[in-house]
Amino acid sequence: MKPGNSLMKHYLQFKDFRAEEYAYLFERARNIKTRFKNYEKYQPLVDRTLAMIFEKASTRTRVSFEAGMYQMGGSVVHLTTGDSQLGRAEPVEDSARVISRMVDIVMIRTYEQAKIEGFAAHSRVPVINGLTNEYHPCQILADIFTFIEHRGSIQGKVVAWVGDGNNMANTWLQAAETLGFTVHVSTPSGYEVDPQLAGVRDSRCFKVFNHPMQACEGAHLVTTDVWTSMGYEAENEERRKAFVDWCVDDEMMAVAQPDALFMHCLPAHRGEEVTAEVIDGPQSVVWDEAENRLHVQKALMEYLLLGRIG
Ligand code: CP
Ligand code: NVA
Repeated sequence: MKPGNSLMKHYLQFKDFRAEEYAYLFERARNIKTRFKNYEKYQPLVDRTLAMIFEKASTRTRVSFEAGMYQMGGSVVHLTTGDSQLGRAEPVEDSARVISRMVDIVMIRTYEQAKIEGFAAHSRVPVINGLTNEYHPCQILADIFTFIEHRGSIQGKVVAWVGDGNNMANTWLQAAETLGFTVHVSTPSGYEVDPQLAGVRDSRCFKVFNHPMQACEGAHLVTTDVWTSMGYEAENEERRKAFVDWCVDDEMMAVAQPDALFMHCLPAHRGEEVTAEVIDGPQSVVWDEAENRLHVQKALMEYLLLGRIG
């Protein structure tokens, strides 16, 4: 796609794409995953370069984007705050203007969503959100693809969110509104989801429950995340006390659907937000979830750079 092309898209929040675009992406991810499993070379992005900017730590996001771009024939530049001028207060708009003249696509993991929005506004190439304080759309893309692989369509289903009203929770709400399912949310008091911050308008896409057991009742998928997200470490001790009852355990899984799945974006803390029995148990699909980051993001980069195939 040429710079400045009016068809250029960014992926900054889950709601940036419509349901019909997700149907296309999930189909492409399935196709790309099948080829990968068959050791078939698929290199539609030869000569394309991805810049990855990390202002927070990562294992899965880095490996999946970097490996994915190389597998598709392209190359990758990896930048962090510490080893670039970003850490020395070069304005984000200037960084965007410069970096986007040299590469074809950019993935950013940072703090405030406003920062990635500011970068995208001055970028000549597509920008992907690799996690902000507010959202984590690539993770939910992988999670829903994983759900579909195991159980079919997520439309009309119930997802139980147990824990912090954080970037993952916000993104689940956006996904529920976009794809037509319901999130049953239970957070400790003071850590609720804020529908305005989550960016959802339809209050039918989520229901709030005081007790995590109530949120899990009848759920098709139970999911959680760390008690303290990156950037909130100063609140760690306070959060440990507040979240003690928000640990997904066998009792919670027992009130969900008998074939309910368990997901966690990882990294996980066994004995805090989830017991070892649940995350290492038969209902857990966390390793598929992590692997699927690779396949869905390859489909995402293909879509942002080449548009629809075929
Ligand atoms: N789930 C996820 O984004 O993992 P990383 O922080 O390791 O990238
Ligand atoms: N909510 C977590 C997700 C990590 C992948 C965080 O933001 O740290």
